[in-house]
Amino acid sequence: TSSDCLNGKKVVVTSGPTREALDPVRYLSNHSSGKMGFALAAAARRAGAQVTLISGPVSLSTPAQVKRIDVVDAREMRDAAERAADLCDIFIGAAAVADFRPATAAGQKLKKQDCHDESSIALVKNPDIIAGIAARTTRRPFTVGFAAETQRVTQYAQSKLQRKNLDMIIANDVSRADGGFDSDQNAVTVIDRDGCQSLPLTLKTSLAKQLIEIIAAKAQHQ
Ligand code: PMT
Repeated sequence: TSSDCLNGKKVVVTSGPTREALDPVRYLSNHSSGKMGFALAAAARRAGAQVTLISGPVSLSTPAQVKRIDVVDAREMRDAAERAADLCDIFIGAAAVADFRPATAAGQKLKKQDCHDESSIALVKNPDIIAGIAARTTRRPFTVGFAAETQRVTQYAQSKLQRKNLDMIIANDVSRADGGFDSDQNAVTVIDRDGCQSLPLTLKTSLAKQLIEIIAAKAQHQ
């Protein structure tokens, strides 16, 4: 039955934003609340899985019987994800990982007086966490990404699926006011090599249950 579709499986979910330090008091980040990832972790647990939730800084409480690992920046999330992925069957990347970080994080608070009226921040690329996991040749879990897009949602998501060698990607249009970042609801398109399927706007908790059933069915046939 769908209620135990992940019995005995190990699932890792990344969730929330990352924070990339500029100095001890400032950071670059995004609007991810963690709601989508936490809902997926809870749904996977309810479906019988053993779940590890790797979370950036969010203000949500941990779902029942889920192991939570808190991280702050992308490199910490990568390290935790690599470790957890060694033992898992399914890896779901719902986190909004910052693609870039400041090239240097100042040890002390940056002072306004030291800057000109115009200033710029040098950035360097962060590791791509999910691409690293999907590129594995051994101990490679069934790997599911998310794609947050504001235009050409399906097309951009499809190219991410291929570029990152994912088994499935869940695309959401984060420009709509009623879904995406921080909302309690979301609407998504699930894309894999066989095709795509749209799931209409609903609560993230109910969407998570539908997604877990779809993922469980696909992961089984891998
Ligand atoms: O947290 P909520 O407020 O509930 O919002 C949910 C959400 C909108 C954040 C979620 O549904 C979502 O879309 N998450 C992915 C956001 C994102 O950063 O997408 P992306 O298109 O930049 O990344 C594509 C995939 O690569 C994602 O699985 C992401 O986790 C992963 N990635 C990205 C960059 C990076 N350096 N490492 C990664 O692993």
